[in-house]
Amino acid sequence: MESPPGPEVWIDGRLYRYFAGTSYYGLHGHPEVIAAGCEGFRKYGFHTATSRAGFGNSAPLLEVERRAAEYSGQEEGFYFSSGYAANHILVQAVEAAAAIFLDEAAHFCVVEAAKIRGLPIHRFHARDPEDLRAKLHAHLPHGGVPLVMSDGLVAATGHLAPLDEYVKLLAEFAPAVLMVDDAHGLGVLGEGGRGSLEHLGLGDAVNGGTPCLGVNILCGRTLGKAMGGFGGIITGHRFFMEKLRHSSNYYDGASAPPTPVAAATAKALELVAGDPSYRERLRRNALHLRQGLRELGLEVHDVPSAHVGVAIGRAGNMQRLHRELRAQGFIVPVTSYVGSGPEGIMRFAVCSGHELEMIDDLLRALRGLL
Ligand SMILES: Cc1ncc(COP(=O)(O)O)c(C=O)c1O
Repeated sequence: MESPPGPEVWIDGRLYRYFAGTSYYGLHGHPEVIAAGCEGFRKYGFHTATSRAGFGNSAPLLEVERRAAEYSGQEEGFYFSSGYAANHILVQAVEAAAAIFLDEAAHFCVVEAAKIRGLPIHRFHARDPEDLRAKLHAHLPHGGVPLVMSDGLVAATGHLAPLDEYVKLLAEFAPAVLMVDDAHGLGVLGEGGRGSLEHLGLGDAVNGGTPCLGVNILCGRTLGKAMGGFGGIITGHRFFMEKLRHSSNYYDGASAPPTPVAAATAKALELVAGDPSYRERLRRNALHLRQGLRELGLEVHDVPSAHVGVAIGRAGNMQRLHRELRAQGFIVPVTSYVGSGPEGIMRFAVCSGHELEMIDDLLRALRGLL
């Protein structure tokens, strides 16, 4: 790649229409984000002084936390080097759980986080509340607190986990905990862009909020997807965040994100929060893409996520489509990433910067190849 991600990118000396993002608002390459990062470099150098608990608290790091908390409608934030670690941090803040119930197609980082708790792990079928119910009845010790772990939006396909149904179901086993990795929901779903939980009407119960039907909801995210920044973020109520910072050792045992990265990320957050048209355009493009794919006879889910995974025949056929689209100047990856099924899927992602004509051009090219 020879340019920032966006609707058009340079790869190996050729300009492509790019449908393979993250960075749904293209902010990695935004001039103000770049300027903020450069200013951070000049002022602080490349890295932080020590861990957060030492002298690692610089203004840009705190700015990310403040802006992320404000964006999420929460009181405080904890910003760390990778969204991958969010679940590792959160899982250590769960006080009493008897067993973990894990979506079988959950992202790698959710699976690894489940393992570090040292509790029995029971996997349920992907996004299947009925199977979750069966597993709860079969394996939860009487009176024990269940911890259910799931993605919000599935990374490969854009499917939304039925988190609202999980909550209703878990109410029968309350008190219970639902932990959600919403890497792909933040900035995209929900009225305020707060993610999958807001989209499903569960936003108020998150990270120290009032439990919903006796279910505590925990949620971690990355700033590296929609937000066009970098690093993991957890936002929540003050008392919860205070506990969270000390229930794992990330705060005092890991380097914070590099300060210039934090400065750029804070600027990206400011831009997304200050301009609702980013999300409006993304939604418009997401719906336009879906409608076009359906008109090609493809089966596409309804979640208004930036990305949508579509199985188009066998793996070999999808590789052919990928190659031929690329030859015509379009990048659409085929992925066998977690949650994509045995043959993999074609993962189409739009960003706010795509013009409708760009999407139409892609659909036209695809029609000629199907
Ligand atoms: C669902 C999910 N969670 C977490 C991550 C990791 O986040 P980060 O890249 O910030 O470490 C990813 C991918 O990057 C992801 O798809």
